[in-house]
Amino acid sequence: MNDLKTVNDTQATPVRTLPDAQTVTTVRHWTDRLFSFRVTRPQSLRFRSGEFVMIGLLDDRGKPLLRAYSIASPSWDEELEFYSIKVPDGPLTSRLQHIQPGDQIILRPKPVGTLVLDALLPGKRLWFLATGTGIAPFASLMRDPETYEKYDQVVMMHTCRTVAELDYGRQLVESLKDDPLIGELVGDKLKYYPTTTREEFSQMGRITDNLTSGKVFDDLGIAPMDRERDRAMVCGSLAFNHDVKAVLESFGLREGANSDPQEYVVEKAFVGDGI
Ligand SMILES: Cc1cc2nc3c(=O)[nH]c(=O)nc-3n(C[C@H](O)[C@H](O)[C@H](O)COP(=O)(O)OP(=O)(O)OC[C@H]3O[C@@H](n4cnc5c(N)ncnc54)[C@H](O)[C@@H]3O)c2cc1C
Ligand SMILES: NC(=O)c1ccc[n+]([C@@H]2O[C@H](COP(=O)([O-])OP(=O)(O)OC[C@H]3O[C@@H](n4cnc5c(N)ncnc54)[C@H](OP(=O)(O)O)[C@@H]3O)[C@@H](O)[C@H]2O)c1
Repeated sequence: MNDLKTVNDTQATPVRTLPDAQTVTTVRHWTDRLFSFRVTRPQSLRFRSGEFVMIGLLDDRGKPLLRAYSIASPSWDEELEFYSIKVPDGPLTSRLQHIQPGDQIILRPKPVGTLVLDALLPGKRLWFLATGTGIAPFASLMRDPETYEKYDQVVMMHTCRTVAELDYGRQLVESLKDDPLIGELVGDKLKYYPTTTREEFSQMGRITDNLTSGKVFDDLGIAPMDRERDRAMVCGSLAFNHDVKAVLESFGLREGANSDPQEYVVEKAFVGDGI
């Protein structure tokens, strides 16, 4: 099952190998709608933690069917990791969810994106604000030494509907303290604030509400946001991004970009209103 398959090809029929094909090394299913996988990394691929690339499979006419995916692994990692939704009728993910180690996917080695450390002015405390699969770029940035070299404190707020949907992020954060490469650097700089909105959990509520009410500052015992100290990166649905921007602006933060660094940056976790 080593050659690149078309999206309709569930048999082991060899198709052809494209220059941008990469081999799947591991796959892990987290829930019936979430999975992560790792692939070989093209030797020439350089990227900044937080960026995204186009990945995909061949469609049934043999043409590449590609979608944007945040690279969830840090820039120093030998492999590339992705964290994916499974959309039941999604052109790509209805098939991608069946990949297995040894299979090949297409990966266009042209990383881009705004969720990069260079797109923010220097600050003391960095906030990662994510819903759902929007945690993927922060899975990269949380594992990047530069994040902890540039900031005294990092706060990861991740909100999902259910507890099981938090697992990927929770296990990643737990693994950091024992990570031989960055464990010491992370130390107690990283504060993790996971919440659910539709299932009982120790911490609940939307990110927007927990910021506006001040609950997250109280729970973590930290000062409220201000423009001098705080920088933020946002990745979620269009509705979440829209609403959280207003909250960040209310704390005085301004939106920046690669070409114009300010106090916060935003990226869509996906296009569309919902499945
Ligand atoms: C910059 C950028 C980065 C992205 N990074 C990731 C990533 O790291 N992981 C990932 O799973 N997806 C990511 N996406 C979404 C991804 O590009 C695809 O939309 C997704 O893989 C579904 O593809 P599809 O062909 O199966 O369905 P599509 O036709 O692409 O989507 C069908 C519908 O499913 C919903 N949907 C799509 N993606 C998601 C999602 N991630 N979470 C919740 N609902 C969704 C939307 O309502 C969409 O209209 C990213 C999108 C953008 C723009
Ligand atoms: N997650 C599931 O179990 C599930 C199952 C089947 C289908 N779907 C569909 O898949 C699509 C994507 O689902 P998802 O759960 O990945 O993403 P989502 O609907 O964007 O929800 C993810 C988290 O973000 C919160 N949120 C949504 N809009 C927000 C806003 N404007 N401001 C602040 N927080 C906001 C949600 O809180 P709230 O709960 O308060 O909205 C939820 O905790 C949805 O359209 C859904 O219908 C999801």
